[in-house]
Amino acid sequence: MRALWVVFALACRPPVSLQEGPDRASDTSGDTWDDSAPVELRNPDEAVDLDPDPSVVRVHLVAAPMTHRIGDVEIAGYAYNGQTPGPTLRAKVGDTLIVELVNDLDVETTIHWHGVAVPWAMDGVTWQSAPVPVGGDFIYTFTLNRAGTFWYHPHFDTERQVDLGLYGVLVVEDPADPVAEDERILVFDTWSEVHDHTEENPANHHSLGSLPTTWTVNGLVNPVVRGQGGDRVRVRAVNVSNTGYLDLDPSRKIAGDQGLLPFADETSRSLLGPGDRSDFEWAMDASWTLTSRGYSLAGGPAWEDPFDLLQVEVASPVDAVALSWPFDGGLPSEDPGTTDITYVFTGDSGAGGWMINGEQFPEVTIETVELGQEVVVEVRNLSASEHPFHLHGHHFEVLSTAGIPAPSLQIEDTVNVRIGEAVRLKLLADNPGDWMAHCHILPHAHLGMMTVLRVLP
Ligand code: C2O
Ligand code: CU
Ligand code: CU
Repeated sequence: MRALWVVFALACRPPVSLQEGPDRASDTSGDTWDDSAPVELRNPDEAVDLDPDPSVVRVHLVAAPMTHRIGDVEIAGYAYNGQTPGPTLRAKVGDTLIVELVNDLDVETTIHWHGVAVPWAMDGVTWQSAPVPVGGDFIYTFTLNRAGTFWYHPHFDTERQVDLGLYGVLVVEDPADPVAEDERILVFDTWSEVHDHTEENPANHHSLGSLPTTWTVNGLVNPVVRGQGGDRVRVRAVNVSNTGYLDLDPSRKIAGDQGLLPFADETSRSLLGPGDRSDFEWAMDASWTLTSRGYSLAGGPAWEDPFDLLQVEVASPVDAVALSWPFDGGLPSEDPGTTDITYVFTGDSGAGGWMINGEQFPEVTIETVELGQEVVVEVRNLSASEHPFHLHGHHFEVLSTAGIPAPSLQIEDTVNVRIGEAVRLKLLADNPGDWMAHCHILPHAHLGMMTVLRVLP
């Protein structure tokens, strides 16, 4: 991966940020692809709250075509409000979010609120309802019941629209959290030279490993984060890549997909698969480089060399005292031992496609559960690829992985299932509707790896 960047660097003009906001103009000069002069990272611009009510956040999002540039590669893509990542939406737990979406794309679209338990009609899924037409609009409105780092993206022709730049972060703050001196939103994505989404070859550019792919952070290659010695930084990291995994250095992880962990985790590496989020607390006590181990969907670590994602440069480094987060120390549940639903993942990227229980969306058997039912789901991976399992409308607890009980309470909406392993999950079916359950490797979902869990009203 690293080697590819060097080849790129020699071959191209200075790269340009994906964000074309006015403050970005100065980033377009100089050899910014070169590690010696990295571009300074900034957070994606935030959406303006148009509602004076402090418990209502109302924002306007316009999805429209936009040309992205990475190095000398131009990608005719899409963006929300002219920026990729799209505007960060910021609210606090309990708030009502109102999003007025205008579709100025050349195709139909929707917005899905990844990780948020929204009413079914607001889920942005087009299985039984029409997408937002070209030139049309739609108002999404729902209450934010959990604090955490979430994200939004289309759920119509998802693989293509997300890949072309339609995504943004939704931050739901908890007023009980301590306020860090700085907060950084890190949106990780992969971009490749080939973005050929023709009819004949809709998934052309996705084959990570066979085409040059580079990671970006908020649209920048290996940017620099400047920090002030002694500061504590709350980092909200989101992996929006269609297929790419990150396996990050150990760091103080404080939150996962669904908000704060039961306690800070300083020991393990953090796997950030497609769709995953993690929050970290960084102490600005030294300059360092954030790297990822090479991690492939073809079987995990050791497939590639480690690669750099960004540089942290600290002015006057000095030790910082860790913040005290309101961790609740919650313990993992005991596995009831029974299984309500089993999903078996099989298939491949060839003509047969990807399957759940031998079926491909939309020709699937709908599993039905009662409202209020506690449901144990077992996801078994019998294929030769890893798959990040994602469920809409709910969050779940990871009971065990490959037969080993979860070492700590782990609440997620997206969880990786390794080759030949089974993951057992427990959820409370408290949100009526027909909820998508799918692999978040978007070309896999596109090729059928998606099913429906019906929670009866
Ligand atoms: Cu983030 Cu059904 O997706
Ligand atoms: Cu989702
Ligand atoms: Cu998959």
